[in-house]
Amino acid sequence: MSTTRSSTMSTMSTMSTATTERNDVTSDVTAATRSTGSTGSTGSSTQEAGTPHAVPAPRKRMLTGDRPTGKLHLGHFVGSIENRIRLQSEYEAFFIIADLHMLTTKNTRADIDQVSKNARDMVLDQLAAGIDPAKATFYLQSAVPEVMEFNTLFQNLVTVPRLERVPSLKDMARAAGKDEMPYGLLGYPVLQAADILCVKGNVVPVGKDNHAHVEVTREIARRFNHLYGDVFPIPELVVSEITTLIGTDGQAKMSKSLGNAIMLSDDAATVRKRVAGMYTDPNRVRADIPGTVEGNPVFAYHRAFNDDQAQVDEFAVRYRAGRVGDVEVKEALAEAINRYLEPMRERRASYDAQPGLVDEIIVEGTETTRAEVRVVLSEVKKAMGITGAYNQLRRKAEQARKKRD
Ligand code: TRP
Repeated sequence: MSTTRSSTMSTMSTMSTATTERNDVTSDVTAATRSTGSTGSTGSSTQEAGTPHAVPAPRKRMLTGDRPTGKLHLGHFVGSIENRIRLQSEYEAFFIIADLHMLTTKNTRADIDQVSKNARDMVLDQLAAGIDPAKATFYLQSAVPEVMEFNTLFQNLVTVPRLERVPSLKDMARAAGKDEMPYGLLGYPVLQAADILCVKGNVVPVGKDNHAHVEVTREIARRFNHLYGDVFPIPELVVSEITTLIGTDGQAKMSKSLGNAIMLSDDAATVRKRVAGMYTDPNRVRADIPGTVEGNPVFAYHRAFNDDQAQVDEFAVRYRAGRVGDVEVKEALAEAINRYLEPMRERRASYDAQPGLVDEIIVEGTETTRAEVRVVLSEVKKAMGITGAYNQLRRKAEQARKKRD
């Protein structure tokens, strides 16, 4: 894999002939075509309505991302990164580093001081995992301040009771130890709508906790179009077959803060150590006691990561029969995970050999995104008539000044 810097600008005008074939929802095709074609924001204004097959439709846009809270682990990989890698060829991909969203629950100076490092780590993890910087655009949310203008305008398109019914917000408030809902956190889905709509995103692949946010986004887009004219596509939620990966300690979810994670950046020795310490069947104090495979994290990981599923089948049979020790099963698992991570380590090493490259990728992506967002913002303001107000005032002011001089 080449890590030479290829211009992300070129992805902005990439055309795909493949997309039209897999589109099953005709109305969405129309929406996407109209929205990207009308602003000229893809750099390709050749798409004419009513000339089917004359020109390939612009690729649909995907937007997703994360708050910059740290390095990624295997749970992130099977839960979403793997999905992004698959989708990056199909869609024009934008990946947000949502530091403004992070502020809704973590806003100390110390939290904020971590953003650049966390952003770099997270992007590197994704690049190492197989996101292609020539296809994807990574950007830092706070460096596209126009998103805050979208946020302000969108705040009037949704009600407080509607936001109060979004269940994830209460969960986030609770998890952050807040006994009252911060105003910004209540507005989390509105800001997310701003992220998605400011690039006219067509598809949003996110986990379950974010589904309600995409629903709010769709409502805001519809409301906007209804009030001011068709500007936005109605973004589709991409419900991915997301597997939540169990923690190494057997807890429901892998999470760095719970200390039950295997990081994508762990080296081979660390992986061996973490696997050796994994929770298995607690009743199995000796290798000749029949063990339970179901719900056993060691077997869950074998299923998820071992490229030799025949070996896993065989282990499962022997485990149930009390004919294999945990140590043997775990050693094979550590090997399997290390085989799985090896290509990522190679890609990571090639990025590491080019210091500053990840930063460049983020900065270039941010510039690209910002340029896009500005185009959409002016379209939004025009549709709303906001630009008109000041233009009228300016015109009068100028006339007055001319008269005076
Ligand atoms: N809400 C996402 C999270 O849980 C991050 C995010 C912010 C996002 N803006 C987005 C995801 C837009 C998809 C689309 O961390």
